[in-house]
Amino acid sequence: MTARPQKKQPRKILVTSALPYANGPLHIGHMLEYIQSDIWARFQRLRGHEIYHVCADDAHGTPIMLRARDDGVTPEALIARMEKEHRDDYRDFGISFDNYHSTHSGENRAIAEGIFAALQDGGHIARREIEQSYDAVEKIFLPDRFIKGECPRCGAAEQYGDNCENCGSTYTPAELRNPVSVISGSAPVLKSSEHYFFRLSNFSEFLKEWVGGGHLQEDARNKVSEWFADGLRDWDISRDAPYFGFTIPGESGKYFYVWLDAPIGYMASFKNLCDKKGLDFDEFWRAGSEAELYHFIGKDILYFHALFWPAMLHGANYRKPSALFAHGFLTVDGQKMSKSRGTFIMARTYLNHLAPDYLRYYFAAKLNHRVEDLDLNLEDFVRRVNSDLVGKVVNIASRSAGFVHQNFGGKLGGKLDDETLFTEFTAAAGTVAEHFEQRRYSRAVRVIMDLADRANRYWSAARPWELAGAIGEGEGGGGAREKLLAVCTQSLNMFRILAGFLAPVTPALAQRAGDFLRVNLSAAGGWGDLQTPLLNHGIAPFTPLLARIDHRQVCNIVNDSRDAAAAPGAASGTATTASAHEPLAAAIGMDEFTKVDLRVAHILKAEAVEGADKLLRLTVDLGFETRTVFAGIKSAYAPADLEGRLTVVAANLAPRKMRFGVSEGMVLAAGPGGGDIWLLSADAGAPPGSRVK
Ligand code: MSP
Ligand code: ZN
Repeated sequence: MTARPQKKQPRKILVTSALPYANGPLHIGHMLEYIQSDIWARFQRLRGHEIYHVCADDAHGTPIMLRARDDGVTPEALIARMEKEHRDDYRDFGISFDNYHSTHSGENRAIAEGIFAALQDGGHIARREIEQSYDAVEKIFLPDRFIKGECPRCGAAEQYGDNCENCGSTYTPAELRNPVSVISGSAPVLKSSEHYFFRLSNFSEFLKEWVGGGHLQEDARNKVSEWFADGLRDWDISRDAPYFGFTIPGESGKYFYVWLDAPIGYMASFKNLCDKKGLDFDEFWRAGSEAELYHFIGKDILYFHALFWPAMLHGANYRKPSALFAHGFLTVDGQKMSKSRGTFIMARTYLNHLAPDYLRYYFAAKLNHRVEDLDLNLEDFVRRVNSDLVGKVVNIASRSAGFVHQNFGGKLGGKLDDETLFTEFTAAAGTVAEHFEQRRYSRAVRVIMDLADRANRYWSAARPWELAGAIGEGEGGGGAREKLLAVCTQSLNMFRILAGFLAPVTPALAQRAGDFLRVNLSAAGGWGDLQTPLLNHGIAPFTPLLARIDHRQVCNIVNDSRDAAAAPGAASGTATTASAHEPLAAAIGMDEFTKVDLRVAHILKAEAVEGADKLLRLTVDLGFETRTVFAGIKSAYAPADLEGRLTVVAANLAPRKMRFGVSEGMVLAAGPGGGDIWLLSADAGAPPGSRVK
């Protein structure tokens, strides 16, 4: 990407995040985008620029209409409810939008109609009859995603109308074998109707120049070049009733396609903000505007933003985006988010267990400026957050705070212990800022953590606990006192810079650190304040700034996310015997089987669980540790019969939260159930902890 032109400060910047669909809750994949854009917006505010970050719910389209119908509510009621949920999720994740609006709004209708009229006047809209799949029972045209059938290439059943999940081929719904409408189950028929098209090819020359003009990341530009090579086709921008959207002016029963008015929603949200704040909309949107405009988007919606959107803006005589910032997709533990594995994690489920700063930090530590997928490895997440944020950063504050309050009345000294070291910290501000500016967050975080290591080494070398011990021991106590104050003043000033650099990433931590240091670490334009040390400055009593993540909190997030329906018997810690009539589960290879770590366990204690008919709470000794396991074997065993016996436990099963407590493994038992469930006998002879082979 070409360098941003050097402009006079402050810059005027409008930032957008992709508008989430109003037909479902946000998940942590969405949050990857909103956290990325929020970090950037917060950073620009710290730098003192005039910056607005706007977003909105994307409220139109067939899925929203059908979902409302299923729920027995109006689309308006559904989108109002979703908007409220989305807003709550953003707020609780610390996403600091300057405005949040809806595409189903007066502003959006007015601007969409204006753009459509301009495109029509410019000769960029065509009309022609096309044939489409139609559900004659429900009387509705069917989007590709609402048709299923057998793949025309490999024959796999239950494939969608656009591509096959089995063999990966793409095709049109007309090619599907034995297609059915997902809505009524009837076979779709072909029906013709007149549609409006946006003549994208009218903009070929303009787009080639724009795409080559440094507005796209390199990987995005390469992708777009492939699309150019395929040829630019007209874009169908109308839909027939029934539909939820804006009717096309002068038509009845015809609507703008959701993707026509969705990006216009960026303008509508900003217009709504302008009206509230008295800002000048045209200053940001007129052709040739000097203001900067950036769209954060996922790689899946690049086509819309890199081709249709600039062409629409151009055809309607508006300014074009300064740049698109596309990101890749989130995976969890190396795989696509999955309901059955419990890794399809809703934003709210995460928030029920953990504070947002942890995930914000982890994403930042891995995000860069490229269109690359990002993996949330749950173990790495716990380890990294605990070791970096808690172990390195927060610790600096907690250790110095005690000395300052005990010995110096909660006031920092008049000089630093090591000016040179302090200068190393302030001098990093430029590098850190440039990394944030260029969205190389992982590199910003690395620089910050290197400084944190430096601060911790300084602390250990200064041996403040010895200085504290020497205070008051007669001779030399005065020198130790002075030195201790200078060391603590030094440390807390380094901590302040670290928390200040991290403020865009971990705003809640910055807030608490600021309260403790009695400074505002998130003040607009406050980035430069970090250059001057805090001296002779009173600090507040120390309260814990950030707790370590307990890995069980993550287990609980995964358990809550696991689709209960996908795992029958999920409430029990015992593998119950499947009926012989149940079909065999999919074959697994030896390599998968050996992942299950089966151990002989000694049952130390067995107790009934109050309120549970079938469960026993077992305390088992694995030789190297003791575990609590819930087992649904009460029907076969009185607790007393079990104590002292041996059983086999799946020992590496992630702990699961159950209604009565956390189960840390699974007891294997076999038998028809009832009174006949068998465990190993007492004299099996294997010591606890031995591996079952
Ligand atoms: N409504 C459209 C966008 C219209 S913008 C004018 C849409 N909505 S969405 O809810 O499906 O996605 C919203 C944003 O979240 C998109 O940028 C999308 O790429 C992003 N993500 C959705 N799932 C994601 C992951 N699993 N990982 C990363 N980003 C993800 O598309
Ligand atoms: Zn196929």
